[in-house]
Amino acid sequence: MDKQQQIIEMFDKIAPTYDSANRILSLGIDVAWRKEACKKAFEFARCEGGAMILDVACGTGDMIIHWRKNATKFGKPIKKIIGIDPSEGMLEVAKKKLENYLCDQKSKNKEPNDGESPAQKSNDEKSCDKKVELYLGEAKNLHMIDSGSMDIISIAYGLRNVVDVSEALNEFGRVLKKDGILVVLEFTKKEKENFLDKITGIYTKKILPLIGGLVSRNYKAYRYLPDSIGGFLSARKLKEELNKVGIETRFIKSYSAGISTLLIGIKR
Ligand SMILES: C[S@@+](CC[C@H](N)C(=O)[O-])C[C@H]1O[C@@H](n2cnc3c(N)ncnc32)[C@H](O)[C@@H]1O
Repeated sequence: MDKQQQIIEMFDKIAPTYDSANRILSLGIDVAWRKEACKKAFEFARCEGGAMILDVACGTGDMIIHWRKNATKFGKPIKKIIGIDPSEGMLEVAKKKLENYLCDQKSKNKEPNDGESPAQKSNDEKSCDKKVELYLGEAKNLHMIDSGSMDIISIAYGLRNVVDVSEALNEFGRVLKKDGILVVLEFTKKEKENFLDKITGIYTKKILPLIGGLVSRNYKAYRYLPDSIGGFLSARKLKEELNKVGIETRFIKSYSAGISTLLIGIKR
């Protein structure tokens, strides 16, 4: 089996426990990282006629829920959100989670802190489930998406798992509109390690595989995480690769002693 297929099968295996492990391992901080990513993207994005958003490597659907929660709040109503992931197991969890979330919002008749007027809200809710579509697929082949059709593409903690990164970035460049926004949240590789990096390295290399392994009962999968960070690009190199496909980096911020990086790019 090739490397990419092994990675996808690993996510299939850990899908049922992925969300619980994620919340424990990040101590819930990832929620703030995701929220800021949406906020920043909406500051840059135009989204004329309603936002068309593609979440690649959508996994169990966390970013889709964040886009839904934050769009109207930042004055960018959603036209459509498409989630794509090659793991059937992850998509199955996403489907259930999104159904629960959307039904919950319908029954409560509100989205938390979304700041919509009641008239906007009822219009939105009639079609809220039609606004989200999920597809099985890899980042390197977004054939189901028209060229120049997306206002925003997000990929959260997914790019590291893509074996053919340059093919994927080419696809992002193809499907983004001119001035469309790319949002990457990722654990990027350090070019030079300082003392603090050595401490955070102990967490990611030793503690994280133990806790993740206990929750998922799959130590190997959580041992893969630090290995995949080591094998991934640095933020500087990622910026260079994006430039090659016509995406100019406008914003980079690292969180929690550089464990996580947010990069916002704009399609020229
Ligand atoms: C760490 S999870 C992140 C999931 C989600 N984006 C999140 O923020 O929780 C990585 C995801 O990347 C997906 N993935 C693996 N290889 C991929 C590929 N070649 N193209 C797109 N997604 C891929 C996995 O199936 C998995 O759902």
